[in-house]
Amino acid sequence: MTATTPSPTALNGPRVRLRPWTDADLAPFAAMNDDPEVMRHLSARLTRAQSDAYAWRIRAQFDAHGFGLWALEVPQLGFAGFVGLSAKVPFELPVPGTVAEPHEIGWRLARAAWGRGYATEAAALVLRHAFDVLELPQVVSFTATANLASQAVMQRIGLQRRGEFDHPRLAEGHPLRRHVLYAQDAPRTGARPS
Ligand SMILES: CC(C)(COP(=O)(O)OP(=O)(O)OC[C@H]1O[C@@H](n2cnc3c(N)ncnc32)[C@H](O)[C@@H]1OP(=O)(O)O)[C@@H](O)C(=O)NCCC(=O)NCCS
Repeated sequence: MTATTPSPTALNGPRVRLRPWTDADLAPFAAMNDDPEVMRHLSARLTRAQSDAYAWRIRAQFDAHGFGLWALEVPQLGFAGFVGLSAKVPFELPVPGTVAEPHEIGWRLARAAWGRGYATEAAALVLRHAFDVLELPQVVSFTATANLASQAVMQRIGLQRRGEFDHPRLAEGHPLRRHVLYAQDAPRTGARPS
């Protein structure tokens, strides 16, 4: 995306809406980040201050790039977490076929929103935006090997399993250190037969 490209502020699906964050999202975001079940495969639950700081970083990335981890709205619940694209992965992914500094697609939903297909519907919108509008060459997603729910979302939106790696920011022996990487390359539009 160039600096002059207008950026859509929201992505809409049949049931989900991905939109920029508001201050009203901070309290439910903090509750989600303090839920041990939501945070089971992530490194630690967040305090209110840590959660607010995270939301601030998300909003700053949105302001800088025009995309990021969108706030997710679903029927009945309203704000239900985030789905979107993180900034470029800040460490090398030691898995063959990975482009340099890829963008990561990710999600975190409040427990009340699980089991309804919302994460998959929203992630499919984000993936399409990543290729069709942002023209990214590749989108990756990675998670702890035990996080099967997240891997199922990756599979449902069409990402392919590329391999495993030890997360460089988690110490040896950390139970979440082993990660699995999924990726999808941009569709080759306009390719002509030789
Ligand atoms: C990862 C996470 C988003 C997955 O949530 P999820 O609810 O399993 O995923 P979806 O929203 O795509 O819902 C899919 C489920 O809804 C079901 N479903 C119900 N109604 C549906 C509908 N109308 N359409 C589609 N699926 C529907 C599907 O059958 C599926 O259930 P199953 O897993 O029992 O087969 C969620 O577990 C989470 O937020 N975890 C904590 C944070 C986290 O780990 N994030 C990833 C870090 S890398």
